[in-house]
Amino acid sequence: MSSKNGIKFIKIQQNLQHLTLGKLCKFIAISGLVLFLFYIFILNHFYNHSSNHLALSKFIWPANSSNVTNSNSTSKIAPSPPTNISHIVFGIAGSLNGWKFRKPYIESWWQENVTRGYLFLDIPPTDEFLPWPSSSPPFRINEDISRLKSYAKIRKKFQVRVFRTILEVFRAKNKDVRWYVMADDDTILFVDNLVNVLAKYDHTQNLYIGTNSECITSNLFASFGMAFGGAGIALSYPLAKQLVGKIDECLARYQNLYASDFMLYSCLTDLGVALTPQKGFHQIDLHNDISGFLSAHPQSPVLSLHHIDSVNPIFPSLSRSESVNHLMKVAKVDSSRLLQQTICYRRQTNWSFSVSWGYSTHIYEMIYPRNVLVKPLQTFSPWRKNDRPPLFMFDTRDVKNNSCETPHVFFFESVKNSTGKSVVTTYSRVLPRNLPPCSISGNHSADFIKKIQVFSPSTTLKEEGKIECCDIEETTETTVTDIKLRACREDEII
Ligand SMILES: *[C@@H]1O[C@H](CO)[C@@H](O)[C@H](O)[C@H]1NC(C)=O
Ligand SMILES: *[C@@H]1O[C@H](CO)[C@@H](O)[C@H](O)[C@H]1NC(C)=O
Ligand SMILES: *[C@@H]1O[C@H](CO)[C@@H](O)[C@H](O)[C@H]1NC(C)=O
Ligand SMILES: *[C@@H]1O[C@H](CO)[C@@H](O)[C@H](O)[C@H]1NC(C)=O
Ligand SMILES: *[C@@H]1O[C@H](CO)[C@@H](O)[C@H](O)[C@H]1NC(C)=O
Ligand SMILES: *[C@@H]1O[C@H](CO)[C@@H](O)[C@H](O)[C@H]1NC(C)=O
Ligand SMILES: *[C@@H]1O[C@H](CO)[C@@H](O)[C@H](O)[C@H]1NC(C)=O
Ligand SMILES: *[C@@H]1O[C@H](CO)[C@@H](O)[C@H](O)[C@H]1NC(C)=O
Ligand SMILES: *[C@@H]1O[C@H](CO)[C@@H](O)[C@H](O)[C@H]1NC(C)=O
Repeated sequence: MSSKNGIKFIKIQQNLQHLTLGKLCKFIAISGLVLFLFYIFILNHFYNHSSNHLALSKFIWPANSSNVTNSNSTSKIAPSPPTNISHIVFGIAGSLNGWKFRKPYIESWWQENVTRGYLFLDIPPTDEFLPWPSSSPPFRINEDISRLKSYAKIRKKFQVRVFRTILEVFRAKNKDVRWYVMADDDTILFVDNLVNVLAKYDHTQNLYIGTNSECITSNLFASFGMAFGGAGIALSYPLAKQLVGKIDECLARYQNLYASDFMLYSCLTDLGVALTPQKGFHQIDLHNDISGFLSAHPQSPVLSLHHIDSVNPIFPSLSRSESVNHLMKVAKVDSSRLLQQTICYRRQTNWSFSVSWGYSTHIYEMIYPRNVLVKPLQTFSPWRKNDRPPLFMFDTRDVKNNSCETPHVFFFESVKNSTGKSVVTTYSRVLPRNLPPCSISGNHSADFIKKIQVFSPSTTLKEEGKIECCDIEETTETTVTDIKLRACREDEII
């Protein structure tokens, strides 16, 4: 609209050059009137059709914007007393049908009497699900949205139900809430890491924390600035409070959007609150084998994994739910190091080691610099099958089948903290590599290595964002290689 008026104005200016003063006054008066009428017309026109014109939502709302405060995402003041697990309330969007299959995922991270929150269902559980297990979050049934004024116009009823979950969690009136964390029933959360990460933010500000999708097209269809719901979204208490007061008003504007997280993003944007991006949440808009992704995780505490059902079991010899529980075993011992990548070299044989703590270890029969090994091997495919490159929001390496570029792969097997000084995680080879040794680096085959033991400090947690270094130790038992994680020395080049 403003650009149309602009064009009109330029034309007026051009015409002015051909006018005398008297004509000019008359012309200005008339064109002023015309412009005024035009403006009134436009205003009325859009007022009447406002619900169909998203771009003009500022005309219908927010009239009460005086209380809206801008988020200050740069403020990361740890409030006192520090945030702990009791300050978080979880709202998990589910359905009774999904619950049949997804119960093990939620129970893998839910801690009875420790984590607060609810699983939201579409319909009450039938007898086969009762009595409701205490190892699961208590359930609530989402409000019947058919009573909403705009119900007839809602296209994605499921998405609207999920969107309004935040309202219903808020109305549960829990005490001392600093954060509402919303997630799906196929999301697994790493609660200890989540607490530590949220504790760094100021919960008294209006904060909308999460991450966008791994796939460029997923972001393109929604927004690059949107927190994807399955990855988990943290809303500070004051923001949640503000949002719930506006939720159905907002819904009337955005009910036709195709996803609940897109509705949330749109409402929050209108409230003047932008996403605070946080690494470690994972939407996992990926398919097939995500081991390449999980073996080169960025240096940031892992907070969530979503779409467990859409990818292969993360441990190739286990089922999906067994895989999730296997990962949780090691997460319980030290979640600060979980999936954190540590790289070191064995110069005598020209080998590179890449450890993804608690998940996998790779040996390459070549020295590859860190900047190569931090790129995930693209063992996975994008969310939408027919997408063309560029596909992902991060660098990847193509999977190769040759002696030098293909790693020997070991997956997490066991964890113990027996000595009290180090935590020992072991990784074992699932399949032989079936390739001759890499000849350009001296033909040093690593085929004989069956197991890797990684020693990490048991009393010091890994600092967020800071890498650790490692040394390869020789062992008497030659089929087992020991790796010791340690703090990097000053100026150490890896
Ligand atoms: C503004 O807020 C007040 C109190 O919260 C409410 O009564 C009123 O209807 C609101 N006005 C608009 C235009 O939303
Ligand atoms: C602004 O917030 C104050 C205190 O929270 C409240 O009393 C007042 O009604 C709000 N004003 C509007 C216009 O919503
Ligand atoms: C955000 O918070 C920090 C720390 O309190 C403060 O220094 C900064 O000025 C704030 N920025 C804005 C835009 O309010
Ligand atoms: C969390 O902190 C509050 C103080 O804000 C305290 O009352 C509560 O006991 C703490 N909970 C846990 C589990 O540490
Ligand atoms: C949780 O609390 C209830 C009631 O206090 C108790 O009966 C139950 O044993 C507790 N469960 C766990 C796992 O601590
Ligand atoms: C890799 O290549 C070797 C021989 O060059 C072949 O035996 C093996 O099946 C290949 N593996 C895969 C996964 O393609
Ligand atoms: C390992 O055990 C020691 C001593 O029992 C304990 O202090 C430490 O916190 C444990 N570490 C982990 C990561 O569980
Ligand atoms: C390591 O590889 C380089 C070539 O990349 C080679 O010159 C060197 O001899 C190799 N070292 C050993 C110990 O094999
Ligand atoms: C590695 O082995 C291949 C085949 O056996 C041989 O051709 C090559 O010269 C060897 N390379 C080195 C560096 O020893």
